[in-house]
Amino acid sequence: MLENFMKNKILVTGGAGYIGTHTCIALHEAGYDFVVYDNLFNSSREAINRVSTLIGQTIEFIEGDIRDAESLKQVFAAHHFFGVIHFAGLKAVGESVAKPLMYYNNNVSGTITLLEMMSEYDVKNFVFSSSATVYGDPESLPINEESPRSCTNPYGQSKLTVEHILEDLAVSDDRWNLIALRYFNPVGAHSSGQIGEDPNDIPNNLMPYISQVAVGKLDKLSIFGNDYPTVDGTGVRDFIHVTDLAKGHVTALNYLNKQTRSNGSGTAKKNSVGFLPINLGTGKGTSVLELVSAFSEVSGQAIPYQFTDRRAGDIASCYASADKAKMLLGWQAELSIADMCRDTWHWQSMNPNGYTKVI
Ligand code: NAD
Ligand code: UFG
Repeated sequence: MLENFMKNKILVTGGAGYIGTHTCIALHEAGYDFVVYDNLFNSSREAINRVSTLIGQTIEFIEGDIRDAESLKQVFAAHHFFGVIHFAGLKAVGESVAKPLMYYNNNVSGTITLLEMMSEYDVKNFVFSSSATVYGDPESLPINEESPRSCTNPYGQSKLTVEHILEDLAVSDDRWNLIALRYFNPVGAHSSGQIGEDPNDIPNNLMPYISQVAVGKLDKLSIFGNDYPTVDGTGVRDFIHVTDLAKGHVTALNYLNKQTRSNGSGTAKKNSVGFLPINLGTGKGTSVLELVSAFSEVSGQAIPYQFTDRRAGDIASCYASADKAKMLLGWQAELSIADMCRDTWHWQSMNPNGYTKVI
């Protein structure tokens, strides 16, 4: 539990979503209070209800859009926040290519409105959901935070643009403390099987696709390419359990607390954090075929698959250097690929239709 002086209220935008719900649980376990703000565009009240049940406490939930300044104003006026964890955003790469304005409007304009409101209410601690996508096709592996950044699709550009905005903000005023957490490939679900990833329609991402094949909702997995220069020709990614990822957010807040607060006697010096990018990954690469095989073993289900052409825009390999997170935040991933598969399967088999229908 946190010491009393560190107990703080956090605004969690996008807190009804996949990573947000898991982070709400981690915040509660660490002794933080929080308010969830989400427009439910890609989530449901049922997710919030389940988090409430899991933590044994009603969640303060506000249905609202980060682009709605008036609505945000009411929230900031009603609470005294220590900081904001900003998950709210759209995340489908393919959709972003078809609807770039929608992505820039939501992810960039929405974030600007949120930051303006934070500035108005003097809330200067911010944890942003960035992505390994900002590294584009990496020049070397593992990818550290100093690696060059470039993006080839509007989703990635929206994340990179927000990072640039945060950098400029940090330069403009050293009271801002802005952490950009660059997630690698979040997968898995809460060990209870009560919350997890609930994609609309057919999943774009590998793990939810595999689990829907395993549960019989989809016939077979298409593996996009088996001619990459990797261990077995299939793509390699740094899969990270969403529970580990959630804990990473708590350690980021703890870091902001330590850096920016006096020690209670009023004598400790406050340090400005500025703009601080940090990878959240395990540091280990796993191939598509290795993940399929691990999932099959853990679930006891066959996962039929076929090899198809490479998917446009995909890279061969991507995995993190996780050293900075360990050094600065004292955080490292603990859960294994088997844990990720087991918890995904638990969630999927208990909720074959996601949050909409419960067996
Ligand atoms: P998600 O879609 O499950 O959650 C995002 C939440 O934000 C949803 O509940 C949605 O309703 C809400 N939201 C979207 N636009 C909003 C708006 N304008 N106002 C208020 N609420 C809004 O996605 P997730 O997987 O939990 O991702 C969370 C964040 O992490 C996103 O910003 C995403 O881009 C980023 N990220 C995700 C991944 C991943 O693979 N899941 C990887 C890297 C980065
Ligand atoms: N893959 C398949 N078949 C599928 C889906 C995926 O073979 O049906 C392969 C992909 O080709 C890739 C690997 O599985 O080699 C992982 O693909 P995902 O779509 O699960 O994840 P990506 O690495 O492409 O992208 C994810 C998020 C992005 C984020 C990025 C950060 O979707 O939003 O991680 O690393 F930016």
